[in-house]
Amino acid sequence: MREIEKYIENMDITGEAPVNEPERQYYFIKKARDYVKSTSEEIGRPLTFCVTTFGCQMNARDSEKLVGVLEKIGYVEEPDEEKADFVIFNTCTVRENANMRVYGRLGQLKRNKKANPHMMIGLCGCMMQEPEVVEKLKKQYRYVDIIFGTHNIYKFAELIVTRFESERMVIDIWKDTDKIVEDLPSERKFSFKSGVNIMFGCNNFCSYCIVPYVRGRERSRNPKDIIREIENLVADGVVEVMLLGQNVNSYGKNLEEPMTFAQLLQEIEKIEGLERIRFMTSHPKDLSDELIEVMRNSKKICKHLHLPVQSGSTEILKKMNRRYTKEQYLELVRKIKEAVPDISLTTDIIVGFPGETEEDFLETMDVVKQVRYDSAFTFIYSKRTGTPAAVMENQIPDDVVKDRFDRLLKEVQTISAEVCCIHEGTTQPALVESMNDHDETLVTGRLSNNLLVHFKGDESLIGKIVDVHLKECKGFYYLGEMV
Ligand code: SAH
Ligand code: SF4
Ligand code: F3S
Repeated sequence: MREIEKYIENMDITGEAPVNEPERQYYFIKKARDYVKSTSEEIGRPLTFCVTTFGCQMNARDSEKLVGVLEKIGYVEEPDEEKADFVIFNTCTVRENANMRVYGRLGQLKRNKKANPHMMIGLCGCMMQEPEVVEKLKKQYRYVDIIFGTHNIYKFAELIVTRFESERMVIDIWKDTDKIVEDLPSERKFSFKSGVNIMFGCNNFCSYCIVPYVRGRERSRNPKDIIREIENLVADGVVEVMLLGQNVNSYGKNLEEPMTFAQLLQEIEKIEGLERIRFMTSHPKDLSDELIEVMRNSKKICKHLHLPVQSGSTEILKKMNRRYTKEQYLELVRKIKEAVPDISLTTDIIVGFPGETEEDFLETMDVVKQVRYDSAFTFIYSKRTGTPAAVMENQIPDDVVKDRFDRLLKEVQTISAEVCCIHEGTTQPALVESMNDHDETLVTGRLSNNLLVHFKGDESLIGKIVDVHLKECKGFYYLGEMV
């Protein structure tokens, strides 16, 4: 980060902007700084921003990049959206309800904008990659200032300058990209842990899913860049990384020198000072024996695997284009549990996919009972325009879906409460993440298996890994004692 500052300082902004990235963005960061500074002086206070993130960990990581740029150009964070001078929504469109929330919030902001002449609204993220959304914004939400997508997020500083200089709605959306821009500023939410993108996009085209359309084709980052980023993070106090990708198991296939995800993990394991490695998401079809072996032998990979099953019915899995059967999935789970006996397994399940019969649904219930997940995210199928499933016959009536969803949730929760408690009485390392929200004598730590434990402690423990005796299981978390 310090190096980036030096580059920005040395940028000559009297001439044309450089053509190459990331230098071009350094130029615009420095330029935007002048605008922000003069406005702040004019109104006698700093300009503030608030970034609100919807959706998955990828978006959360992208938001850290947005915050990094905003802070570099002189904006100050304001947690209250109602008060901020620059409000940015980093949107998600994976399900319909995520979309509705954004429109609702936008409506509320119109008032604020009338009251504050310096206020700006920026929209980015997955929803902006849908042409219908941008059309609607252009017609009904003229007061939005900047709209950009998932592929050109690195151009944020440039877009801000364009807006400052034009006073008009700035829209810049790319259909796809093969570009990965490194070395941009980013501001971490936690000092001791960080997400790290290892790849972008998705090539799987599960028939219900909009992600491949809004995040583009799969591209892996160069292993050297990943390692360098993690080394820098560790030097800056990070002990845990979460490697991010829509399908991390297919990492490296398209690199000039192909490399497997298991090989990448082994390289990352060697980084001194790094204590914990997590990753998300694993697609069952690409989870290799090599990876299971690496997980078995690793000292740093956490004992947690998120392995979305989506459905337990082979018939439905086929229609979903998931490319595994119920039996293959269960066999994979068996192999993983055999190699790493104390692993915690979590999953995603969709209920009410077109054509799902009661029998299909019972197959899903059966998988849940057999695998006994530590937790499962259950979703009601949401029709996404443009995906193959949206035009499939036999869309399931709402009341049937709701009934299945309730039954599934009950099963998932009952099992999860039982499974989570099996560690009671053991002592395990926990990474202390925060002070407890409700009791200021307690801190909250995360176990390797991703469960939380609350125990007596103070702020000085935050970011440290300590051994905790798990005294009492409370269903989804523990009460413990530091030993
Ligand atoms: N790449 C990850 C998932 C990304 S989306 C994977 O393949 O597992 C996160 C979850 O949202 C998915 O696992 C799926 O369960 C859910 N999801 C995606 N599209 C959906 C839709 N149209 N309706 C309901 N849930 C959906
Ligand atoms: Fe969507 Fe499937 Fe890609 Fe996951 S793997 S992002 S569910 S298309
Ligand atoms: Fe949503 Fe985009 Fe993630 S659609 S789930 S924010 S990749």
